[in-house]
Amino acid sequence: RGPETVSATGQATGADQARMAQSGAYLTTAQGVRLYESDHSLKAGARGPVLIQDHHLREKITHFDHERIPERVVHARGAAAHGVFKGYGTAGEVSKAAFLVKDVETPVFVRFSTVLGSRGSADTVRDTRGFATKFYTDEGTFDLVGNNIPVFFIQDALKFPDVVHAAKPHPDREIPQAQSAHDTFWDFVSLHTEATHHTLWNMSDRGIPRSYRMMEGFGVHTFRLVNTNGESVLAKFHWKPKLGVHSLVWEEAQLINGMDPDFHRRDLFDAIEAGAFPQWELGIQVFPDTPDQTFQGIDLLDPTKIVPEGLTPVQPIGLMTLNANTKNYFAETEQVAFHPGHLVPGIDITDDALLAGRLFSYLDTQISRLGGPNFAQIPINRPHAPVNDMLRDGMHQSAVHTGVAPYRPNSLDGGCPFQAGADLGAYVETAVRVPETSKVREAPATFSDHFSQPRLFWLSMSAPEREHIIAAYTFELNKCFEQAVKERTLKVLANIDTQLCEQVASGLGLPAPQATVSLAPADPSPALSQLGKTWPVD
Ligand code: HEM
Repeated sequence: RGPETVSATGQATGADQARMAQSGAYLTTAQGVRLYESDHSLKAGARGPVLIQDHHLREKITHFDHERIPERVVHARGAAAHGVFKGYGTAGEVSKAAFLVKDVETPVFVRFSTVLGSRGSADTVRDTRGFATKFYTDEGTFDLVGNNIPVFFIQDALKFPDVVHAAKPHPDREIPQAQSAHDTFWDFVSLHTEATHHTLWNMSDRGIPRSYRMMEGFGVHTFRLVNTNGESVLAKFHWKPKLGVHSLVWEEAQLINGMDPDFHRRDLFDAIEAGAFPQWELGIQVFPDTPDQTFQGIDLLDPTKIVPEGLTPVQPIGLMTLNANTKNYFAETEQVAFHPGHLVPGIDITDDALLAGRLFSYLDTQISRLGGPNFAQIPINRPHAPVNDMLRDGMHQSAVHTGVAPYRPNSLDGGCPFQAGADLGAYVETAVRVPETSKVREAPATFSDHFSQPRLFWLSMSAPEREHIIAAYTFELNKCFEQAVKERTLKVLANIDTQLCEQVASGLGLPAPQATVSLAPADPSPALSQLGKTWPVD
């Protein structure tokens, strides 16, 4: 089946739809053979043994036995919706991506998620939220696979399995909220002080959003944008909700978890069903593409750092409206496969070491999760641009390829052009210098400041927001069993702010340690104090 059979919402249409879904006047087997009865197994007499020759029974039970696929290794619980993205045309100077051109409308599919809980877990837990968007552009699929927190726990992909193992349910009891799970999470983040910034955002009200419709989204990494002249800039992506940013308070979050664990997915579905379509503006912060890839002393390759919006404002480049609910959770929300390497001409990656690991990880995990290498042919994953690749065969292949063997150059297949030319194709690198160097396993010195930005975040909080953060640390750390883990975490908090550390220490009944770094803000300019402030709403 070709991409022409996919509708604007990624659904199969026409003959495909009829063939794949329930259709026709009679109940049949999967082979289309008409059944005359489906309430009883075939038996040797009404009270006799069931006969193994009953194909209908075996087919139905066998298919049922295989209804589940593995849940995602992270971000297993999600809710999604269809929509449309409309470009403002304001990004033309920095990116040649066609979907950003003024008034171009591109279908999108967005999946929101929690990170740590299993597929059946509750919605309003304290956690980071995923915010993954698939743009079905005319130039192929672009995925912006982001989160609702602008920084990440770690700076190097090699640590990803470790941070996830430290936070996920434990092997013995499979209990995520057991004392031991709190110990291992806090053990990890206190031993890896680069996690301080992300953890502080988690402990703030951002960790318990009121609604998916009221969350910001962030691409987190710095990307490279390329314009029609081949000139490049560095950029960070931001989603700004038209409804503003709103959170629950902890007591609400806990009550809702018990009373309505589906709170966020219900809220999203109901709002769209009622015609209250949620909207986000896509914006970019733009920085010069200098050889050192830093901006005003901030290393743009360090995913634990933001660039304060007071220093570099977010410039709106388009509007996304979610206007249609999914029709089938499994076919769409469960089978969708996002990948940070799904890029279109005009958007490229940087040398962020965390992003490099992600580029490998998503395709790899999806081959296992979606049963082989052909999941791009699943309706929700099919590009809305023509596909002419040289990939063949494999598990769950549903395309029927014709012609001669796929190799290039090829003088026998009619000479199908395949090279777009450097100005048209994706993954064509701009002049990026790779410094001559020896192989090392180490972080750059510019990655070593782990406290200045957490401190700025803390200083930008209002009094009630600070109270919430203190209460969150106190609640979570009181669940830890190991005294040494609590004490080490207090040392981390001392390096953020004395008041924060003292109040959490008092809640834990422990002495407050002294800071081991200077507590002066790295840059006391008013611009930096806007860190963490929310987007003005209409
Ligand atoms: C999902 C790996 C960092 C956002 C996933 C999945 C894997 C993964 C294996 C499951 C994918 C699937 O089964 O389809 C990693 C690794 C990371 C990393 C190895 C770091 C080295 C990040 C970061 C972000 C992020 C920094 C945010 C910027 C997401 C989102 C999903 C996801 C939103 C869910 C996508 C969906 O809704 O299907 N990640 N991740 N991840 N990741 Fe990451």
